[in-house]
Amino acid sequence: MTHERDADPDPDAQPAADESADADPTVHTTGQPRPDGGAVDDVALDPWGSSTVSDYRKLFEQFGIERFETVLDEVPAPHYLMRRGVIFGHRDYRPVARAMREGDPFAALSGFMPTGDPHIGHKLVFDEIIWHQQQGGDAYGLIADLEAHSARGLSWAEVDEHARNYILSLLALGFDPEAGELYRQSANREVQDLAFELGAEANFSELQAIYDFDGETDVSHMQSVVTQMADILYPQLEEPKPTVIPVGPDQDPHIRLSRDLAARLRYFGVTEAYASFELADAERRALALVYDELVDESRRTDEGGDDTLRCEDAAALLRAGADRADPLDEPAVRDSLLEKLDNAGKEPLRPRVRFVDRNATETAFEALIEAVDGEKRVYDNHVDAFETDRAAAEQLARDVEVAHGGYGFLPPSSVYHRFMTGLTGGKMSSSVPASHISLLDTPEEGYDKVKTATTGGRETAEKQRELGGEPDDCPVYELYAYLLAHDDDEFAKQVYDECAGGERLCGDCKEQAARLMEDFLENHQEKRAEWADRLEELDIDLDTDRKR
Ligand code: TRP
Ligand code: SF4
Repeated sequence: MTHERDADPDPDAQPAADESADADPTVHTTGQPRPDGGAVDDVALDPWGSSTVSDYRKLFEQFGIERFETVLDEVPAPHYLMRRGVIFGHRDYRPVARAMREGDPFAALSGFMPTGDPHIGHKLVFDEIIWHQQQGGDAYGLIADLEAHSARGLSWAEVDEHARNYILSLLALGFDPEAGELYRQSANREVQDLAFELGAEANFSELQAIYDFDGETDVSHMQSVVTQMADILYPQLEEPKPTVIPVGPDQDPHIRLSRDLAARLRYFGVTEAYASFELADAERRALALVYDELVDESRRTDEGGDDTLRCEDAAALLRAGADRADPLDEPAVRDSLLEKLDNAGKEPLRPRVRFVDRNATETAFEALIEAVDGEKRVYDNHVDAFETDRAAAEQLARDVEVAHGGYGFLPPSSVYHRFMTGLTGGKMSSSVPASHISLLDTPEEGYDKVKTATTGGRETAEKQRELGGEPDDCPVYELYAYLLAHDDDEFAKQVYDECAGGERLCGDCKEQAARLMEDFLENHQEKRAEWADRLEELDIDLDTDRKR
């Protein structure tokens, strides 16, 4: 599942942990990192397990997901899920934000395993896809039917029924099927062809390391992984473009693998160097500082002699500065850099961009050499360019690749949303109807579920007036912030403040939320019904003739 886990609730589920370092009531994140069952101390990102995030901070520290706040300012008119911190993290979202600002092509794609009814947790992702479409992106919604069949063992008849329900809700929420594309994995030949190519770049040991696969893992399950990789890269098949994949953090292993595979298929790698040897990132940062210092120095003391900077000069400076407290000269980095500089000795030290031939055809490599402007040096499997900057080099490498039959994929980007808490506390689960509001629920059912939801309220009204409620620990507040308040930040803030300030009591608060939910579902069911009548007009495969 991309979004909310499906497995049965974990009997060991812990109560919500109160460690919201990143909860900021002023932006109305719903605050607390909530475990949705399972392991609490360690974050395990398992796309097929009962995914658990007990502490969102670990995702930043251990997995290198970046906080969404760091790009929020770069997004032209951020969605309320972004503003409220529900979308809490990203990988490499900047190119997407830039394309949005500059009116350049970009895409958004996500997929849904049709294992049950779509519910309000999935709605977050539907909204994210639709919003990117409205911002000018190419939008894709796919039904991961191969994955549901192989990883979850659903029959094709079950898959068909659920697939239809996901598609209807996506349309009812505003997905434009003329401008975007909806597909089923099983019916998309291009995706399967691409999956096959991608499968040639990954082997069993790697899948084992990433997903904990073992000798008992079905081959189809592995195939569903490469299919997902193909889904993720599919928007770039015609031309490379920034692509965002909105998902829950449990899907991050897939995102990382797709970024790796995208890079592995590239014809050329682009790096920056100062001499013949290659540099690790930390070494490059350290050498950049040393180089700048050398340049300054040689300007000051220019005696008109030979002013060529050499590797040995950098080594000398690095040694002389051994006691300088420089954030970058970690001993290990310094040592390895020194070794490289010493070996290079009198070699000139000059910044350059390096194109490395990875998978290029001979003609493509020739064409690249030809296309590099200004001073260049050609080696066996790389070209060094002295008058090109990094960004221009990346573009050039991609253009040459595409012109010579390569994909030129950009590494896909991702955004991550928080898992919603179940209405009964614990995690929201498709298999526990009372824990979620299904997008197929009638308005009355929705109303009732909200009315009986767990709250962050105190035992008595007096206490609530005195101490205030705990909106950060309240599934009902979450409903407001994630869904019911829509775009109205003022309203979400008002609910939060009134609750925390003790002016709002749970009975009335739930009544208000229940009515809003009722309205939402009434409207949603109407739109679903309208789309159900028009579904045939759309070019979507709804029924498989597969057996079993
Ligand atoms: N694996 C996803 C899930 O468990 C479904 C999926 C398939 C998907 N292909 C995708 C998600 C591509 C995002 C992008 O729900
Ligand atoms: Fe939750 Fe509303 Fe009660 Fe506050 S008043 S704890 S937001 S139900």
